[in-house]
Order: sequence, then structure tokens, then C-alpha cells
Amino acid sequence: MCPQGPVLVRGAQRVLDEDGVEHLVTRPVVAVCACDRSARKPWCDGTHKSVRSDRT
Ligand code: FES
Repeated sequence: MCPQGPVLVRGAQRVLDEDGVEHLVTRPVVAVCACDRSARKPWCDGTHKSVRSDRT
């Protein structure tokens, strides 16, 4: 888990999103959004960086 960022998942073959939709994983490591602001959920798109800077 990255502080205020995504959860890095290694070795997964698929990820289920909050609606139960299955997303196939084709990379050895993927970043799953934990801030709920990504436009590409379940994947992190970097939006958490702007959210974090708004709070500091
Ligand atoms: S954790 Fe990166 S966009 Fe949500």
C-alpha cells in the first residue's frame, strides 16, 4: 500500500472492482486505486497526487 496512493498488487491474474466486474491483469504489478477518484478505476491514474496536494 502506498501512503495516500494506490495499492500495488503483484502477481494477480484479475481484479474485481466495486461493482463485481472482473478486470484481467496483464502486467506483473498493477496499481489499484485506493482514493476512489481515478477516472480509470479500478486502476490508479495518478489523480491521488492532486488530491493530496489540495489537502496540504
Ligand atoms: S490511488 Fe491513484 S488515483 Fe486513486
